[in-house]
Amino acid sequence: MTTDLLGSAELTQREYELFRQLVYAQSGINLGPEKQHLVRARLGKRLRKGGFKSFKDYYDFVLNDKSGQELATLLDAISTNTTHFFREQRHFQLLAKMVEERMAALGGKPWDIRIWSAGCSSGEEPYSIALTVHDLIKNSSKVRLKLLATDLSTKVLSKAKLGVYEAMRLGTLPPGFGKAYFRRYGDRRSALVQVAPHIRELVSFARFNLMQERFPFKHQFDAIFCRNVMIYFDRPTQEALIARFYQHLRPDGLFLIGHSESLNSLKHQYRYVEPASYRK
Ligand SMILES: C[S@@+](CC[C@H](N)C(=O)[O-])C[C@H]1O[C@@H](n2cnc3c(N)ncnc32)[C@H](O)[C@@H]1O
Repeated sequence: MTTDLLGSAELTQREYELFRQLVYAQSGINLGPEKQHLVRARLGKRLRKGGFKSFKDYYDFVLNDKSGQELATLLDAISTNTTHFFREQRHFQLLAKMVEERMAALGGKPWDIRIWSAGCSSGEEPYSIALTVHDLIKNSSKVRLKLLATDLSTKVLSKAKLGVYEAMRLGTLPPGFGKAYFRRYGDRRSALVQVAPHIRELVSFARFNLMQERFPFKHQFDAIFCRNVMIYFDRPTQEALIARFYQHLRPDGLFLIGHSESLNSLKHQYRYVEPASYRK
């Protein structure tokens, strides 16, 4: 084993290639050559904590762990989970418009609004969806929100379920939402807040790998959010995934991707609405 001044094992080109292929096969995340330093830094911590002598030792350990737990830890360390409340605000306006129009068209008939936040990270996206829809339907006894929020990373999902955030992260919420839907978490001096229980109850969090070939959903969704997730996938993976989303979206349903993403260069059947927003 070789070590550098920081006491971390070297990640050789061959070892990096092994991790690259494993991560790609398991998550669709396509790590380019420029990510080698990042991978070394992120996995280096795990190596030191677990007392592994080299990256190859750690790699073998991941493969031999039949529980899959170490693979989950590896993918947790690799994935990028940056997010915030009401990120790309325009999408929440489009969602509100779709809900209002549909409610008007249904004229008081019952409706279960089904929405999927695919790649929900630590929960800011699904809670933003829940707040937007709840605010519109709170006076209706006939309309209910069924919101599914999934991610590959167990670490972010635990945070999402708890719904505890630093109060200073609420700055991007619409006016009045912070006070109405968040409670102080901890003692009087705490800088943490928690999403109110009646909003947390609206979201079903689950671990789900978007690379699964079949999606096990009985009902089609009215809207699918898959924002800032596919940027890490290569083109064939993106095309296969958006085709699967298409099957699980109801006719005219809303499909939203990140604002730095586009379906332009991909084969797809969606109707373009505006940047990063499509309909079936
Ligand atoms: C940058 S975050 C985006 C969070 C949120 N959608 C947003 O736009 O703010 C990307 C998320 O995608 C998840 N992810 C990456 N690959 C995945 C896969 N194959 N299946 C499910 N989730 C995945 C990551 O764990 C991470 O939490």
